[in-house]
Amino acid sequence: MAIEKTFSIIKPNAVKKNVIGKIITHFEDNDLKIAASQLINLDRPKAEEFYAEHKERPFFGELVDFMTSGPIMIMCLSGEDAVAKNRNIMGATNPAEADEGTLRKLYGDSLGENAVHGSDSPASADRELALFFSTKEICNA
Ligand code: CMP
Repeated sequence: MAIEKTFSIIKPNAVKKNVIGKIITHFEDNDLKIAASQLINLDRPKAEEFYAEHKERPFFGELVDFMTSGPIMIMCLSGEDAVAKNRNIMGATNPAEADEGTLRKLYGDSLGENAVHGSDSPASADRELALFFSTKEICNA
């Protein structure tokens, strides 16, 4: 299996719960490495660009409000099959439907405030990583 990179966000509700370390432990325990990370305040234009594919959805405004409501941790994760592995670790988008032990079940509050984001494909990972990190900021990948 190839080594992949994927983009991950620890969302404002999880940062507020002070569980950044606990979430990173899940990644490390599953052989994903942190190849880049930064705690940032996302501004509205960047949030709108990041979630551009959801622009016409009724929840878009709410999503941008939430993602700009407090600091987020952005990361590049690297490892074998990183995109799919991260999605398994996160669980279903809606925490109410996520399996026990997944990040969204453990730390998500609702469909909108679901604790973590992860790229849904290698192509999305490339696009999302390029929005937030330069290639020289990504180590270890
Ligand atoms: P994420 O993986 O960050 O990608 C898009 C986000 O939109 C998703 O997680 C959810 O948090 C959010 N989302 C998806 N569907 C809805 C919905 N019906 N209502 C509110 N938020 C949603």
